[in-house]
Amino acid sequence: MGSEERVVRRFRAEDEGFVAGLRRQCFSASINFDLWLAHGHVLERAGQPVAAMLARPAGQWFGGRPVPGVAISSVMVDLAHRSAGVMGYLLESVLADHARSGAAVATLVPTALAPYRRAGFEVGGHRYRFVAPPAALRTGSEIDSVRWFETADVDALAEVYEEFARRSNGLIVRSAGWWQGHILPSVRSGDAFAVVAVRDGAVTGYAMWDQPSAPRGELTFRHRVRAREIVWTSRSSANALLRALARAGSPGEDLTWFGSPCDGLSMFFDVPPTVDWAYPWMLRIIDYPAALTARGYPPDVTVELVLAVRRTAPGRALRLTVSDGRCRAEWTTEAPEAAVTERGFAALYTGRLSAAEAQVLGELHTERAGTLDRIGTVFACGTPWMFDHF
Ligand SMILES: CC(C)(COP(=O)(O)OP(=O)(O)OC[C@H]1O[C@@H](n2cnc3c(N)ncnc32)[C@H](O)[C@@H]1OP(=O)(O)O)[C@@H](O)C(=O)NCCC(=O)NCCS
Repeated sequence: MGSEERVVRRFRAEDEGFVAGLRRQCFSASINFDLWLAHGHVLERAGQPVAAMLARPAGQWFGGRPVPGVAISSVMVDLAHRSAGVMGYLLESVLADHARSGAAVATLVPTALAPYRRAGFEVGGHRYRFVAPPAALRTGSEIDSVRWFETADVDALAEVYEEFARRSNGLIVRSAGWWQGHILPSVRSGDAFAVVAVRDGAVTGYAMWDQPSAPRGELTFRHRVRAREIVWTSRSSANALLRALARAGSPGEDLTWFGSPCDGLSMFFDVPPTVDWAYPWMLRIIDYPAALTARGYPPDVTVELVLAVRRTAPGRALRLTVSDGRCRAEWTTEAPEAAVTERGFAALYTGRLSAAEAQVLGELHTERAGTLDRIGTVFACGTPWMFDHF
């Protein structure tokens, strides 16, 4: 396919029929017209639209700080035009655009890994779903009060989410548009329930859940209480939200929630919660100095590193100066002490891959003693995960 044939442009109102058809073809799903008008992109080949995708500004929290980014979703190539590099071209063009507007990383939830690996993405973390019997919940005596979510709580939700995200890795940086367009519609429509935990008049956390009926095909009125988000800022708010969820639906139903293997919720149950589902998300770094400068680092680490990134222009390396939890990063022509592949760097950056594991896999190479340990201490952090499906 000659590059002169391809044009990537913003979605226009007249693309609705084409994109609606692609959505049916690829995902058996309908189109949210306003979302596409705001964030849709279309690739034309010889004047005809053949592919489309969404790219929404949404970064991620790493090391306690927000990294600006773009969330990619609904990547679709018409069946007759697949396996010809169309997706790679569309993605590259849209990511370059977002990098120019300040995005440092790109994130997506893949259906297949190979085409995204080819485009420089690597698995950055997972969504984990835990399951536990509510009867095994042992909340302590210190419990905040719980009430139904009200529209006026929106800002308080964003505040407690941000506090929660600072102590996690990988959570989406949610703009007001993300809350309004992605998180709250299911609560407004009644598809999801939401409560807030309150202490001394202040919101200390919230939980959102839905209740699919008969999850195992039972011919009874049973549900599964499926928490989409449990966000808490203290032990007493976690106690309150878990107790509310354990009492939701009818007594004795299954309770599931999306969470982190490093979070504290397992400590509230007498039987071990298990992971019954996990699914990867992928990350690509689209602006290295910006991504490295934006994230946070362990506060007690003081390290200087010069790292080459394989797949960036030859002869360029990154100088990292890490101290007081922050990093200065710039391109340099100095000789690197280690080389990291682009995909290896993405997985190191999120904390999904350790430096030692990257070296064994051949994604990182250094011959200098001590360099591996120094890289390891810089990127050490909790298991990366997220709530959002997009
Ligand atoms: C995934 C998709 C966007 C790829 O588009 P494309 O233009 O064909 O992608 P490229 O030509 O850049 O890469 C094709 C490669 O994708 C991979 N791939 C495509 N479909 C795949 C599948 N079903 N399973 C595994 N790998 C697949 C293969 O590695 C393929 O390489 P090959 O042709 O050498 O075998 C396209 O198949 C599609 O629209 N699928 C349906 C919707 C979807 O799943 N979108 C992804 C949402 S995250």
